[in-house]
Amino acid sequence: MLIAANWKAYVEDAAKARKLVASAKKLASGGMHQIVAAPAAPHLGLLAQGNKSKLAFASQDVSATTGGAHTGEVSAQTLHGIDVAYAIIGHSETRGRFGVAEPDFTPEILAIFGESNATVNLKTIAAIEGGLLPIVCVGETLAERKTGNTDAVVAEHVTLALKNVSAADVAAKVIFAYEPVWAIGTGEVCAADEADRVCGVVRSTVAGLYDAATAEAVRIQYGGSMKPDNAVELLSKPNIDGGLIGGASL
Ligand code: PGA
Repeated sequence: MLIAANWKAYVEDAAKARKLVASAKKLASGGMHQIVAAPAAPHLGLLAQGNKSKLAFASQDVSATTGGAHTGEVSAQTLHGIDVAYAIIGHSETRGRFGVAEPDFTPEILAIFGESNATVNLKTIAAIEGGLLPIVCVGETLAERKTGNTDAVVAEHVTLALKNVSAADVAAKVIFAYEPVWAIGTGEVCAADEADRVCGVVRSTVAGLYDAATAEAVRIQYGGSMKPDNAVELLSKPNIDGGLIGGASL
């Protein structure tokens, strides 16, 4: 199992981040599963560098570019250089879904990074080339689910994320996180059978793009209000290889 804790912008105090990392290291030292922590970017610099524990670190985003004149961007190479192992890419909180024209931007909308399937693809490639393992988030909104478009949206997210990515890299390096947007931070969990079914859509899409062996090898997490009372059932499902956990990971 690959269990990743996405701390988003919840932990603003470095001392608190250190405490959480210390307890995550204890959990990880048990050795049964791979535990990953994704603190805020500046805290990664404090916490990841020189890490020799079984806990691995993830960034919550990564630049599609390598080094250069890219103000505000953090490249995969920079993250790899401070012992970060994974990068979360295309989280619904960074994918653009508002469709609002620029003059109407509110601060809340400006805080959304306007991620698209194209940038998710470029970031996935940049992460792999920079030595990181991409955790690529896919998933439908409530409106997309209600109109019966869940499987098509998820298949499209997967297909476009993997453009120009080799089968070997998909099998060994890429992790998908199926995160129904309506279940993120809402307490509304996707029923385990349905989560498993859609993770199966991710797997069969990979099979269609590559082959059965690649689809079998690719790791798929479920994310969205995963917590102690539903994690065991979700993680027992055949297509679910781990969890991407926000609120409950704190
Ligand atoms: P949540 O977030 O567990 O708070 O729903 C999951 C995520 O956004 O990755």
